[in-house]
Amino acid sequence: MNEELRFGIIGVGGIAGYVHKPGIETVPNGRLVAITDSNQEQVAKRAQQWGGVRTHANATELLAQNDIDAVIVATPNFLHAPLAIEAAKAGKHVLVEKPIAMNHAEAKTMLAAAVENDVRHQTAFTYRFVPAMRYLKHLVDRGDLGTPRHFRAQRFQEFTDYSVGWRQWKKTAGTGELGDMASHRIDFGHFLIGPISNVCGAFKQFEMRDRDAAGNPVEPSDTDDWTAFIAEFKSGVTGVWESTKLAKGHGFGGVSHDFCEVNGTEASAIYELKHPYRILLGKKGGSFEEIPVPDEFMKVEGSTRVAGEGDPGAVWRYDQAVEFSKAIRAGRDCSPSFADGANCQAVMDAILKAIEERRWVEVDY
Ligand SMILES: NC(=O)c1ccc[n+]([C@@H]2O[C@H](COP(=O)([O-])OP(=O)(O)OC[C@H]3O[C@@H](n4cnc5c(N)ncnc54)[C@H](O)[C@@H]3O)[C@@H](O)[C@H]2O)c1
Repeated sequence: MNEELRFGIIGVGGIAGYVHKPGIETVPNGRLVAITDSNQEQVAKRAQQWGGVRTHANATELLAQNDIDAVIVATPNFLHAPLAIEAAKAGKHVLVEKPIAMNHAEAKTMLAAAVENDVRHQTAFTYRFVPAMRYLKHLVDRGDLGTPRHFRAQRFQEFTDYSVGWRQWKKTAGTGELGDMASHRIDFGHFLIGPISNVCGAFKQFEMRDRDAAGNPVEPSDTDDWTAFIAEFKSGVTGVWESTKLAKGHGFGGVSHDFCEVNGTEASAIYELKHPYRILLGKKGGSFEEIPVPDEFMKVEGSTRVAGEGDPGAVWRYDQAVEFSKAIRAGRDCSPSFADGANCQAVMDAILKAIEERRWVEVDY
């Protein structure tokens, strides 16, 4: 029997409710003990909704508690680094939302703090846990596609045209669509293909988002709502990404367009978030066929959830909490760790520089 693993959540907004709370519930003998949020109304609302959790006035108070083994940082991006470092220093294992930091330098200090304090560290690159992505990774690694030549990823969603809050300002988010959505897909590139040698890219901002949903004026956005970039991987594979919040008709979240394809010398394979339980496989000389994801990739082993049951746009997200807890219990590195989060930041920094200087830029990991 696994010893009880006691969690705290710092920042109990959207993603804490959608992913982290139910995620902890799928960890064998995992328990959410305490929560905190800078918004006192929000923390009171969550405490009432969730029941049986203690509330703390702030992160420092929560991190001082001896009955918490691990914390999840689910705040706006600019707070990830200070909170993760504080958590590591307090001896808590720490899972941090993506993008883990505001830039690569900050991400590296987070990784160093976690290593120094000997705590497990994970980045919430949640989409690695989509069963179709896990199976695609297996096929690439096993050589079923032959030698990979091209990688491509697309994320098209229809967001509202009004303010998206902290997500729309550099000071709180770092970047717009690049960090919000494309960061996961940069991670797909690392996950499936490996390190990137150089990049060039573009940004575009169409919406000012200077009104909230009720029509009240808010500070206008200063971030991208569309980005595209191309890259060469160190292995020579080509990479192409496009990501936008402005693709009308594409919907939002788990049912919208999230596409990733690898073309190898023997076959091509496609992942689509809309179809998390199958991939498309096209063999040399043939055409694409739907291949169901085999049972072993349908959930992370050890999760208490029943594979294939529940909302197919959401349930696999819980598996990251299971991976986090397995790494804690085994005393091994998490996958994806802060190192993966930092690698993504290195690519994002290079893309920003490439856009600013309108040229190709080498990635400095
Ligand atoms: N991995 C994924 O698929 C995924 C999906 C959505 C969001 N995210 C990430 O999760 C993070 C949170 O996003 P969200 O959509 O839940 O945002 P949100 O605005 O809904 O929630 C953030 C919460 O953090 C709280 N907060 C702000 N400052 C705080 C502080 N100092 N201490 C404690 N709490 C504080 C806010 O009051 C709010 O309740 C972001 O980094 C975002 O990029 C990741």
